[in-house]
Formats: sequence, C-alpha cells, structure tokens
Amino acid sequence: MSDEINGKLNQQAADELLEKARKVIPWGSSTGSKAPSLRPYEPAAIVKGKGCRVWDVEGREFIDYRNALGPITLGYQFPDVDEAIKKQLESGIVFGHPSILEYEVAEMLTEIIPCAEQVRFLKTGGEAVAACIRIARGYTGKDHVVQIGYNGWLNSLAAGGPVLPRQTGTSTGSGIPKCLSDLHHSCKWNDIEGIKKVYEEVNGNLAAIVIAADYAEMDKGATFYKEVREFADKNGVVLIYDEIVTGFRLAIGGVQEYFNVKPDLAVFSKGIANGMPISAYVGKKEIMQKCDKGNGVVISSTFGGETLSLAAAKATINAYKKYNVIEHIWKQGRKLWGTLNAIFEKYNVPIQLKGLWPCPIFVAKDGAQADAISRFLSLSYKNGVSLYNVSYVNYSHKDEDIEETLQKLEKACAEF
Ligand SMILES: Cc1ncc(COP(=O)(O)O)c(C=O)c1O
Repeated sequence: MSDEINGKLNQQAADELLEKARKVIPWGSSTGSKAPSLRPYEPAAIVKGKGCRVWDVEGREFIDYRNALGPITLGYQFPDVDEAIKKQLESGIVFGHPSILEYEVAEMLTEIIPCAEQVRFLKTGGEAVAACIRIARGYTGKDHVVQIGYNGWLNSLAAGGPVLPRQTGTSTGSGIPKCLSDLHHSCKWNDIEGIKKVYEEVNGNLAAIVIAADYAEMDKGATFYKEVREFADKNGVVLIYDEIVTGFRLAIGGVQEYFNVKPDLAVFSKGIANGMPISAYVGKKEIMQKCDKGNGVVISSTFGGETLSLAAAKATINAYKKYNVIEHIWKQGRKLWGTLNAIFEKYNVPIQLKGLWPCPIFVAKDGAQADAISRFLSLSYKNGVSLYNVSYVNYSHKDEDIEETLQKLEKACAEF
C-alpha cells in the first residue's frame, strides 16, 4: 500500500492517514516527538530522505534540520555509509557469535573517545544509560542516582525529572513504583550545590551522577564539568556523561573532548552510525570490568553486535575523519543559526536560537506569546523547511542549501 500512496496524497487524505495511524498506534507514532502536531503544514508522514532533504506523503519537499531527531549527521542515504551497509548485507546481519566488526568498531571508539578504555554495544541510548547506571551501582555498592537532563524514557524515574527531552513531569510518572523513584534525583544543569544537597540527603549513598548537557546553556559546561568531576572524585561517585546528542556533534568525542574533562563512563548513540540503531557504553576499564563475565553486573542483548549498524558506524567514523565533518557542522551551523537570529531581529519575531552552533535550541524572548515558537515552526514547514525545537546542521547541508533555507525562513518571518 505505501508504494501506491507515496507522495500522492492530498491534504485531506494525509489527515485521514494520520487518523488511521492513531487508531492502531497510541500517540500516532512510536516516538512521541515525531507525532505531527502542526498540521496542515507539518508532514503527516515522510516517504523519503536524501542528502539534507525529505519528502512527505503529499509530495512536498523540505530542507530538513530535524535529522531524525539527531542521528543523521552526514545526510540521508550518505553514499559511504549506505555502501558499507549493502556490502555487509551480503555477508549477513547478525550471528550466534561476535563479528569481527564488533571488535573493530570497539577499538575505533577507544581511539576517538577520551574516556573509552573499554566499549560495549546496545541498540538505543536509553538502555545504554541504564547499563551505565547499573554498572555504577555494582561498582560502588551504592543505590542513589542524580540525573541532569533527559536520559531516555526508561531512566525517567525521578519525581519531577524530565519525561521527554525538555519536558518535565510534575510528579512520579505513572507506572513507576515510588520505592524505585525515590532512588532517582533530578538536579539542574550547572547547579553543583543541588548535587551536594542530594548527596547530604542520601547520607552519601550516591552511586552515580548522569549528565546530559543543557542545550541553551551548554557553554557553562566549561566550568560545570570540572566542578562535578572534582565532587565525584572526592566522594567516590561514578560520573557518567550522556553524550547521545553531543557525541559526534560538538566534537567526535563529545563534551568530554570539547570541554576537556573526562567522565568515568559515557554513552554515545545518535551520531555514531548516521541513522542506524546502535548505542555504545564506554569508559574506564576498572569500572567497565564490572560487566565482564562473572563480575556481578550482567548486561547482555541479542542484537548488541548487529552487523549492519556496526558497518555503518565504521563507515561513519571514517567519513568524519576523511571529510572533517565536525568543522563543517560548526561552520554551517554558525552561518545558518547566526543569520537566522539576525532575521528574527529584523522582523521582530520574538524568538532566538541559543546554545552552541551544532545543537542550539529555539527559546522565546521575554514577553513572547506561549505559542511563538510553534507558530514559527509551522510557518517554516509552510515554506519548505523542516525544523524542530533543537535543530541540527548535517554534513549534506552545503552553502547553497543554507542560502535557500535562509530565503525560505525569511519568508516565514515576514508572514509571522
Ligand atoms: C540526551 C538524550 N539522552 C538519551 C536519549 C534517549 O535515547 P533513545 O531514544 O535512543 O533511547 C535521548 C533521546 O532523545 C537524548 O536526547
């Protein structure tokens, strides 16, 4: 059926498709943040992506900055990666023993991630963070965990903590026993005093501090990571960086490379394989050894060493080195988002992009109406640009794409 409808639906038919999807899929999508909320301009569903563009079921083309919510760092259908996947497909997808690729990619990660002495693979970011939390508990023999930012749905356990990126729950989420929630504490970014307070409250029974960097205030990492590192060392707490967004984006090695402060453990996922589902939990050998055979912490998954994703990861890492992808992301990000901020000023659109250029976030200016960002995003779709609260430039956004985007977004601002 999907072949018949690809790119051929009118608006009403696309809305009917969405209705049908909502009947069989709660929330209309398995990923909350992907479910369209800005119809009629937002796509009901995507049928194809190539380079920096996507096409929807109505046949509309968009210059895309959602990048699948982060994993597309090189571009859709990037030749080096797709060729590697196709080649590996000829040898098989997953086996009853490890593949050579598992060893190869693990070794490559130890060479490019500062804290990575040892590496293991899973499929999603959230489960890899859960693995790190478990290792930290096993290693320290302690129970409580401080979490800063969103670390995946299965780790959204703290009352009042983030239940989705940038969405805070008001109390313990439904489906979470209170005794479990009581072990997780949500602290704010750049608030070392908040961490110290939790440490006092739990009488030092703190296993880990997990940090996902704040988008708007990411530059504060220059001092915050040093403060937390010092505190963790002094008190025997395992420091874990959630580099799911920042890895392969600020720098290949993420915030630990960019700010030059190493954690004990870290999780990488979204950028590693240009869209293929893979996550890596990495860190100091002494701590990672806790999940070695017979050392008490058992983490094991059938698809951990699936080869298409590993082949994609190997090709992606090589492409990053060959094309200097990080420099491109910073340069094009600065050009696009810096100019867009000036266009917002020119047209009195009361929003701005804040943060570091590879992953800035839209924020409303003081006094702006609550829906200002949604209105702008909706008008961006109308003019052929697909944005998200956090928007990313990838390696396929070339100068002419950035120019075209700025023209389209200037039109969106004029209509605001
Ligand atoms: C910082 C951060 N950590 C963890 C996750 C969860 O990753 P996954 O959705 O692959 O479980 C996300 C997802 O958006 C994220 O942005």
